[in-house]
Amino acid sequence: MHPSESIKGALSQKLEGRTIVLGISGGIACVECVKLARQLIRHGAEVIPVMTDEACRFISPMTMEFATGNAAITGLSGKTEHVSIDFDLLLVAPCTANTLSKIALGIADNALTTFALTARKMLLAPSMHLSMYENEVLQRHIKRCRERGILFVPPEMGERKAKMAGIERIVADSLRALRAGRGGKRVLIIGGATGEPLDDVRVITNLSSGKMARALAMEAYERGMDVEAWASFPMPPYITTEHFTSIHDLLGLIKRERTYDAVINCAAISDFTVAKQKGKIKSGKKMTVTLEPAPRVNPLLRKMAKTVIGFKLAENESEVIPRATELVEKDDLDYAIGNTIESLGSDSVRIWIVGKKGPVRETSGKKEEVAMEILDLI
Ligand SMILES: Cc1cc2nc3c(=O)[nH]c(=O)nc-3n(C[C@H](O)[C@H](O)[C@H](O)COP(=O)(O)O)c2cc1C
Repeated sequence: MHPSESIKGALSQKLEGRTIVLGISGGIACVECVKLARQLIRHGAEVIPVMTDEACRFISPMTMEFATGNAAITGLSGKTEHVSIDFDLLLVAPCTANTLSKIALGIADNALTTFALTARKMLLAPSMHLSMYENEVLQRHIKRCRERGILFVPPEMGERKAKMAGIERIVADSLRALRAGRGGKRVLIIGGATGEPLDDVRVITNLSSGKMARALAMEAYERGMDVEAWASFPMPPYITTEHFTSIHDLLGLIKRERTYDAVINCAAISDFTVAKQKGKIKSGKKMTVTLEPAPRVNPLLRKMAKTVIGFKLAENESEVIPRATELVEKDDLDYAIGNTIESLGSDSVRIWIVGKKGPVRETSGKKEEVAMEILDLI
Protein backbone atom coordinates (compact mmCIF):
# COMPACT_ATOMS: atom_id res chain seq x y z
CA MET A 1 0.00 0.00 0.00
CA HIS A 2 1.32 3.45 -0.91
CA PRO A 3 1.69 5.76 2.16
CA SER A 4 -0.87 8.20 0.70
CA GLU A 5 -3.56 5.48 1.03
CA SER A 6 -3.22 5.52 4.81
CA ILE A 7 -4.48 9.13 5.03
CA LYS A 8 -7.27 8.87 2.43
CA GLY A 9 -10.57 10.02 3.92
CA ALA A 10 -9.01 10.60 7.36
CA LEU A 11 -10.85 13.94 7.74
CA SER A 12 -14.01 13.33 5.74
CA GLN A 13 -15.51 11.46 2.76
CA LYS A 14 -16.60 14.71 1.11
CA LEU A 15 -14.32 14.17 -1.92
CA GLU A 16 -14.66 10.40 -2.13
CA GLY A 17 -14.80 9.29 -5.77
CA ARG A 18 -13.56 12.71 -6.96
CA THR A 19 -10.38 13.20 -8.95
CA ILE A 20 -8.54 16.50 -8.67
CA VAL A 21 -5.76 17.34 -11.11
CA LEU A 22 -3.40 19.54 -9.13
CA GLY A 23 -1.71 21.85 -11.64
CA ILE A 24 1.54 23.22 -10.25
CA SER A 25 3.25 26.13 -11.99
CA GLY A 26 6.60 27.74 -11.25
CA GLY A 27 6.22 30.01 -8.23
CA ILE A 28 7.83 29.79 -4.82
CA ALA A 29 4.47 28.73 -3.32
CA CYS A 30 5.13 25.30 -4.90
CA VAL A 31 6.61 24.44 -1.52
CA GLU A 32 3.03 24.26 -0.13
CA CYS A 33 1.89 21.64 -2.65
CA VAL A 34 2.73 18.55 -0.60
CA LYS A 35 0.57 19.73 2.31
CA LEU A 36 -2.18 20.90 -0.04
CA ALA A 37 -2.31 17.59 -1.94
CA ARG A 38 -2.38 15.59 1.27
CA GLN A 39 -5.17 17.67 2.79
CA LEU A 40 -7.30 17.03 -0.32
CA ILE A 41 -6.54 13.30 0.02
CA ARG A 42 -7.61 13.46 3.68
CA HIS A 43 -11.05 14.51 2.40
CA GLY A 44 -11.11 11.43 0.14
CA ALA A 45 -9.88 12.87 -3.20
CA GLU A 46 -7.63 11.17 -5.73
CA VAL A 47 -4.98 13.78 -6.58
CA ILE A 48 -2.99 13.72 -9.82
CA PRO A 49 -0.11 16.22 -9.98
CA VAL A 50 0.62 17.96 -13.29
CA MET A 51 3.73 20.14 -13.22
CA THR A 52 5.23 22.73 -15.55
CA ASP A 53 8.98 22.65 -16.31
CA GLU A 54 9.44 25.73 -14.13
CA ALA A 55 7.58 24.08 -11.22
CA CYS A 56 10.05 21.16 -11.48
CA ARG A 57 12.84 23.65 -10.69
CA PHE A 58 11.15 24.43 -7.35
CA ILE A 59 10.03 20.95 -6.24
CA SER A 60 10.75 17.53 -7.64
CA PRO A 61 8.12 15.39 -9.41
CA MET A 62 9.21 12.58 -7.09
CA THR A 63 8.11 14.67 -4.08
CA MET A 64 4.64 15.06 -5.58
CA GLU A 65 4.52 11.35 -6.46
CA PHE A 66 5.29 10.56 -2.84
CA ALA A 67 2.65 13.04 -1.63
CA THR A 68 -0.15 11.74 -3.86
CA GLY A 69 0.70 8.15 -4.81
CA ASN A 70 0.43 9.19 -8.49
CA ALA A 71 3.36 9.83 -10.84
CA ALA A 72 3.56 13.56 -11.59
CA ILE A 73 2.72 14.37 -15.21
CA THR A 74 5.41 16.70 -16.50
CA GLY A 75 4.72 16.30 -20.20
CA LEU A 76 2.01 14.68 -22.26
CA SER A 77 2.74 11.24 -23.72
CA GLY A 78 1.14 8.82 -26.14
CA LYS A 79 -1.35 8.09 -23.35
CA THR A 80 -2.97 11.49 -24.07
CA GLU A 81 -3.41 12.04 -20.35
CA HIS A 82 -5.40 15.30 -20.81
CA VAL A 83 -8.28 13.44 -22.45
CA SER A 84 -7.92 9.93 -21.03
CA ILE A 85 -7.94 10.91 -17.33
CA ASP A 86 -11.49 11.56 -16.12
CA PHE A 87 -11.11 14.38 -13.61
CA ASP A 88 -13.62 16.58 -11.77
CA LEU A 89 -11.53 19.65 -11.05
CA LEU A 90 -8.33 21.26 -12.29
CA LEU A 91 -6.93 23.13 -9.29
CA VAL A 92 -3.94 25.26 -10.28
CA ALA A 93 -1.99 26.12 -7.12
CA PRO A 94 0.20 28.03 -7.29
CA CYS A 95 -0.94 29.69 -10.49
CA THR A 96 1.78 31.92 -11.95
CA ALA A 97 1.07 35.05 -13.98
CA ASN A 98 2.42 33.20 -17.00
CA THR A 99 0.17 30.13 -16.61
CA LEU A 100 -2.88 32.26 -15.75
CA SER A 101 -2.39 34.32 -18.91
CA LYS A 102 -1.96 31.21 -21.06
CA ILE A 103 -5.16 29.70 -19.64
CA ALA A 104 -7.01 32.97 -20.35
CA LEU A 105 -5.86 32.88 -23.96
CA GLY A 106 -6.39 29.16 -24.52
CA ILE A 107 -2.71 28.46 -25.13
CA ALA A 108 -1.87 24.78 -24.65
CA ASP A 109 1.92 24.54 -24.83
CA ASN A 110 2.56 22.21 -21.87
CA ALA A 111 0.74 19.45 -19.96
CA LEU A 112 -0.86 21.83 -17.43
CA THR A 113 -2.24 24.32 -19.95
CA THR A 114 -3.46 21.44 -22.16
CA PHE A 115 -5.40 20.00 -19.20
CA ALA A 116 -6.89 23.51 -18.82
CA LEU A 117 -8.45 23.15 -22.27
CA THR A 118 -10.21 19.91 -21.33
CA ALA A 119 -11.25 20.78 -17.76
CA ARG A 120 -14.97 21.01 -16.93
CA LYS A 121 -14.23 22.98 -13.78
CA MET A 122 -11.19 25.09 -12.91
CA LEU A 123 -10.03 26.77 -9.72
CA LEU A 124 -6.95 29.00 -9.85
CA ALA A 125 -4.93 30.12 -6.81
CA PRO A 126 -2.75 32.99 -8.10
CA SER A 127 0.59 33.71 -6.46
CA MET A 128 2.99 36.42 -7.55
CA HIS A 129 4.54 39.81 -6.77
CA LEU A 130 1.97 42.57 -6.34
CA SER A 131 3.32 44.49 -9.32
CA MET A 132 2.67 41.45 -11.55
CA TYR A 133 -0.79 40.91 -10.05
CA GLU A 134 -1.77 44.54 -10.53
CA ASN A 135 -0.48 44.62 -14.09
CA GLU A 136 -3.24 45.70 -16.45
CA VAL A 137 -2.71 42.77 -18.82
CA LEU A 138 -2.93 40.22 -16.01
CA GLN A 139 -6.08 41.86 -14.61
CA ARG A 140 -7.65 41.65 -18.07
CA HIS A 141 -6.77 37.95 -18.19
CA ILE A 142 -8.31 37.37 -14.75
CA LYS A 143 -11.50 39.08 -15.94
CA ARG A 144 -11.54 36.96 -19.09
CA CYS A 145 -11.15 33.78 -17.00
CA ARG A 146 -13.98 34.82 -14.65
CA GLU A 147 -16.25 35.47 -17.62
CA ARG A 148 -15.62 31.88 -18.73
CA GLY A 149 -16.73 30.61 -15.30
CA ILE A 150 -13.24 29.86 -14.04
CA LEU A 151 -13.13 30.15 -10.24
CA PHE A 152 -10.42 31.90 -8.20
CA VAL A 153 -9.09 31.55 -4.68
CA PRO A 154 -8.21 35.18 -3.93
CA PRO A 155 -4.56 35.74 -3.02
CA GLU A 156 -3.61 37.24 0.34
CA MET A 157 -2.11 40.70 -0.07
CA GLY A 158 0.91 41.64 2.03
CA GLU A 159 4.62 42.47 1.90
CA ARG A 160 4.10 43.76 -1.68
CA LYS A 161 2.99 40.31 -2.78
CA ALA A 162 -0.22 38.64 -3.87
CA LYS A 163 0.54 35.48 -1.91
CA MET A 164 -1.16 32.19 -2.60
CA ALA A 165 -4.13 31.75 -0.22
CA GLY A 166 -3.64 29.45 2.76
CA ILE A 167 -4.19 25.71 2.42
CA GLU A 168 -7.35 25.78 4.55
CA ARG A 169 -8.91 28.31 2.17
CA ILE A 170 -7.83 26.47 -1.00
CA VAL A 171 -9.26 23.20 0.34
CA ALA A 172 -12.52 24.94 1.36
CA ASP A 173 -12.84 26.49 -2.11
CA SER A 174 -12.08 23.14 -3.79
CA LEU A 175 -14.84 21.56 -1.71
CA ARG A 176 -17.14 24.47 -2.60
CA ALA A 177 -16.30 24.13 -6.31
CA LEU A 178 -17.14 20.42 -6.26
CA ARG A 179 -20.06 20.35 -3.81
CA ALA A 180 -21.97 23.58 -4.39
CA GLY A 181 -25.47 23.37 -5.78
CA ARG A 182 -26.99 26.13 -7.86
CA GLY A 183 -28.25 29.40 -6.31
CA GLY A 184 -26.68 29.38 -2.84
CA LYS A 185 -28.99 30.35 -0.01
CA ARG A 186 -28.18 33.21 2.33
CA VAL A 187 -27.60 31.79 5.78
CA LEU A 188 -26.62 33.27 9.14
CA ILE A 189 -24.87 31.14 11.76
CA ILE A 190 -24.76 32.49 15.33
CA GLY A 191 -22.35 30.70 17.65
CA GLY A 192 -20.08 30.79 20.65
CA ALA A 193 -20.57 32.01 24.20
CA THR A 194 -21.79 35.36 25.47
CA GLY A 195 -19.79 37.14 28.16
CA GLU A 196 -21.87 39.38 30.39
CA PRO A 197 -19.66 42.12 31.85
CA LEU A 198 -19.34 42.40 35.63
CA ASP A 199 -17.07 45.43 35.26
CA ASP A 200 -14.72 46.76 32.57
CA VAL A 201 -12.42 43.72 32.74
CA ARG A 202 -14.44 40.69 33.89
CA VAL A 203 -17.27 38.71 32.33
CA ILE A 204 -19.61 35.90 33.35
CA THR A 205 -19.49 33.40 30.53
CA ASN A 206 -20.03 29.69 29.77
CA LEU A 207 -18.16 26.74 28.29
CA SER A 208 -19.48 26.83 24.71
CA SER A 209 -16.46 26.34 22.40
CA GLY A 210 -18.06 27.49 19.14
CA LYS A 211 -17.03 24.25 17.39
CA MET A 212 -20.60 23.53 16.25
CA ALA A 213 -20.97 27.01 14.74
CA ARG A 214 -17.63 26.71 12.99
CA ALA A 215 -18.61 23.33 11.52
CA LEU A 216 -21.97 24.73 10.36
CA ALA A 217 -20.39 27.81 8.77
CA MET A 218 -17.74 25.77 6.95
CA GLU A 219 -20.27 23.21 5.72
CA ALA A 220 -22.59 25.98 4.50
CA TYR A 221 -19.67 27.65 2.68
CA GLU A 222 -18.66 24.38 1.04
CA ARG A 223 -22.26 23.90 -0.14
CA GLY A 224 -22.00 27.22 -1.99
CA MET A 225 -24.21 29.13 0.43
CA ASP A 226 -23.75 32.84 1.04
CA VAL A 227 -22.69 32.54 4.69
CA GLU A 228 -22.48 35.18 7.41
CA ALA A 229 -21.52 34.38 10.98
CA TRP A 230 -21.98 36.18 14.27
CA ALA A 231 -19.42 34.64 16.56
CA SER A 232 -17.63 35.17 19.85
CA PHE A 233 -14.51 33.33 18.58
CA PRO A 234 -12.37 33.53 15.42
CA MET A 235 -14.04 31.98 12.35
CA PRO A 236 -12.08 30.95 9.21
CA PRO A 237 -11.11 34.21 7.47
CA TYR A 238 -13.21 33.43 4.38
CA ILE A 239 -16.44 33.51 6.42
CA THR A 240 -17.87 37.03 6.74
CA THR A 241 -18.02 37.42 10.51
CA GLU A 242 -19.39 39.94 12.99
CA HIS A 243 -17.82 39.51 16.42
CA PHE A 244 -19.93 39.67 19.59
CA THR A 245 -19.23 39.45 23.29
CA SER A 246 -22.44 40.22 25.17
CA ILE A 247 -26.19 39.92 24.63
CA HIS A 248 -26.15 43.70 24.17
CA ASP A 249 -23.84 43.23 21.13
CA LEU A 250 -26.18 40.57 19.70
CA LEU A 251 -29.20 42.84 20.10
CA GLY A 252 -27.25 45.56 18.24
CA LEU A 253 -26.63 43.16 15.34
CA ILE A 254 -30.30 42.12 15.25
CA LYS A 255 -31.31 45.81 15.06
CA ARG A 256 -29.58 46.06 11.67
CA GLU A 257 -32.58 44.15 10.31
CA ARG A 258 -30.66 42.11 7.74
CA THR A 259 -32.61 39.23 6.22
CA TYR A 260 -31.56 35.69 5.33
CA ASP A 261 -33.09 32.50 3.96
CA ALA A 262 -32.20 30.77 7.21
CA VAL A 263 -30.76 31.56 10.63
CA ILE A 264 -29.16 28.86 12.78
CA ASN A 265 -28.52 29.95 16.35
CA CYS A 266 -26.28 27.54 18.25
CA ALA A 267 -24.78 30.22 20.51
CA ALA A 268 -24.83 29.67 24.26
CA ILE A 269 -26.52 32.94 25.16
CA SER A 270 -26.63 33.88 28.83
CA ASP A 271 -30.01 33.59 30.52
CA PHE A 272 -28.99 36.46 32.78
CA THR A 273 -27.50 39.90 32.52
CA VAL A 274 -25.56 41.69 35.25
CA ALA A 275 -25.69 45.32 36.37
CA LYS A 276 -22.23 46.28 35.12
CA GLN A 277 -19.95 48.30 37.38
CA LYS A 278 -17.49 50.86 36.02
CA GLY A 279 -13.74 50.30 36.18
CA LYS A 280 -12.30 47.24 37.95
CA ILE A 281 -14.05 45.89 41.06
CA LYS A 282 -11.50 45.81 43.91
CA SER A 283 -10.17 42.32 44.65
CA GLY A 284 -9.91 40.71 48.11
CA LYS A 285 -13.42 41.67 49.21
CA LYS A 286 -16.61 39.61 49.25
CA MET A 287 -19.08 40.82 46.63
CA THR A 288 -22.70 40.16 45.68
CA VAL A 289 -23.82 39.97 42.07
CA THR A 290 -27.43 40.41 41.06
CA LEU A 291 -28.43 38.52 37.92
CA GLU A 292 -31.45 39.77 35.98
CA PRO A 293 -33.29 37.59 33.41
CA ALA A 294 -31.90 38.40 29.95
CA PRO A 295 -34.07 39.25 26.92
CA ARG A 296 -34.70 36.18 24.76
CA VAL A 297 -32.86 36.32 21.44
CA ASN A 298 -34.53 33.50 19.42
CA PRO A 299 -37.96 35.17 19.02
CA LEU A 300 -36.22 38.26 17.60
CA LEU A 301 -34.70 36.12 14.83
CA ARG A 302 -38.14 35.08 13.54
CA LYS A 303 -38.61 38.11 11.30
CA MET A 304 -35.07 37.84 9.89
CA ALA A 305 -35.55 34.54 8.03
CA LYS A 306 -38.00 32.04 6.62
CA THR A 307 -36.33 29.21 8.50
CA VAL A 308 -35.10 29.65 12.07
CA ILE A 309 -33.29 26.86 13.90
CA GLY A 310 -32.33 27.08 17.59
CA PHE A 311 -30.39 24.80 19.94
CA LYS A 312 -31.46 23.52 23.34
CA LEU A 313 -28.93 22.17 25.81
CA ALA A 314 -30.47 19.75 28.31
CA GLU A 315 -28.91 18.30 31.41
CA ASN A 316 -29.61 14.68 30.49
CA GLU A 317 -31.04 12.60 27.64
CA SER A 318 -34.49 12.12 29.14
CA GLU A 319 -35.01 15.88 29.18
CA VAL A 320 -33.85 16.61 25.63
CA ILE A 321 -37.03 16.06 23.62
CA PRO A 322 -39.43 17.75 26.09
CA ARG A 323 -37.13 20.79 26.40
CA ALA A 324 -36.55 21.06 22.64
CA THR A 325 -40.30 20.71 21.97
CA GLU A 326 -40.97 23.48 24.49
CA LEU A 327 -38.40 25.72 22.77
CA VAL A 328 -39.92 25.25 19.29
CA GLU A 329 -43.26 26.46 20.63
CA LYS A 330 -42.02 29.21 22.96
CA ASP A 331 -39.58 30.79 20.47
CA ASP A 332 -41.62 30.05 17.31
CA LEU A 333 -38.78 28.03 15.75
CA ASP A 334 -38.95 25.74 12.74
CA TYR A 335 -36.60 23.32 14.45
CA ALA A 336 -34.85 22.99 17.80
CA ILE A 337 -31.70 20.88 17.98
CA GLY A 338 -31.60 19.22 21.38
CA ASN A 339 -28.30 18.09 22.85
CA THR A 340 -26.81 17.37 26.25
CA ILE A 341 -24.01 18.93 28.30
CA GLU A 342 -21.59 16.20 27.12
CA SER A 343 -21.43 18.03 23.77
CA LEU A 344 -19.93 21.19 25.37
CA GLY A 345 -16.41 21.67 24.00
CA SER A 346 -16.42 18.18 22.48
CA ASP A 347 -15.53 17.36 18.84
CA SER A 348 -18.56 15.12 18.54
CA VAL A 349 -22.20 15.50 19.50
CA ARG A 350 -25.48 13.60 19.77
CA ILE A 351 -28.48 15.59 18.64
CA TRP A 352 -32.26 15.23 18.64
CA ILE A 353 -33.99 17.25 15.90
CA VAL A 354 -37.44 18.47 16.90
CA GLY A 355 -39.75 20.26 14.44
CA LYS A 356 -43.14 21.97 14.74
CA LYS A 357 -44.85 18.57 14.40
CA GLY A 358 -42.65 16.87 17.00
CA PRO A 359 -39.38 14.89 17.02
CA VAL A 360 -37.86 14.36 13.56
CA ARG A 361 -34.80 12.21 14.23
CA GLU A 362 -31.78 11.55 16.41
CA THR A 363 -28.23 11.39 15.11
CA SER A 364 -24.67 11.55 16.37
CA GLY A 365 -21.15 11.96 15.05
CA LYS A 366 -18.37 14.51 14.60
CA LYS A 367 -19.70 18.08 14.63
CA GLU A 368 -18.72 18.35 10.92
CA GLU A 369 -20.95 15.34 10.11
CA VAL A 370 -23.86 16.53 12.23
CA ALA A 371 -23.61 19.98 10.56
CA MET A 372 -24.51 18.29 7.25
CA GLU A 373 -27.75 16.90 8.69
CA ILE A 374 -28.69 20.25 10.20
CA LEU A 375 -28.08 22.10 6.92
CA ASP A 376 -30.19 19.50 5.10
CA LEU A 377 -33.14 20.91 7.08
CA ILE A 378 -32.96 24.16 5.11
C1 LIG B 1 12.73 32.21 -7.56
C2 LIG B 1 11.60 32.51 -8.50
C3 LIG B 1 10.35 32.70 -7.97
C4 LIG B 1 9.27 32.97 -8.80
N1 LIG B 1 8.03 33.13 -8.25
C5 LIG B 1 6.97 33.40 -9.06
C6 LIG B 1 5.68 33.56 -8.51
O1 LIG B 1 5.46 33.43 -7.30
N2 LIG B 1 4.67 33.87 -9.36
C7 LIG B 1 4.86 34.02 -10.70
O2 LIG B 1 3.89 34.32 -11.41
N3 LIG B 1 6.09 33.85 -11.23
C8 LIG B 1 7.14 33.55 -10.47
N4 LIG B 1 8.38 33.39 -11.02
C9 LIG B 1 8.53 33.50 -12.47
C10 LIG B 1 8.03 32.26 -13.17
O3 LIG B 1 8.78 31.13 -12.73
C11 LIG B 1 8.16 32.43 -14.69
O4 LIG B 1 7.26 33.42 -15.13
C12 LIG B 1 7.92 31.15 -15.42
O5 LIG B 1 7.97 31.40 -16.80
C13 LIG B 1 6.58 30.53 -15.07
O6 LIG B 1 6.42 29.36 -15.84
P1 LIG B 1 5.15 28.40 -15.66
O7 LIG B 1 3.96 29.27 -15.55
O8 LIG B 1 5.13 27.56 -16.88
O9 LIG B 1 5.39 27.56 -14.47
C14 LIG B 1 9.47 33.07 -10.21
C15 LIG B 1 10.76 32.86 -10.71
C16 LIG B 1 11.79 32.59 -9.89
C17 LIG B 1 13.15 32.35 -10.48
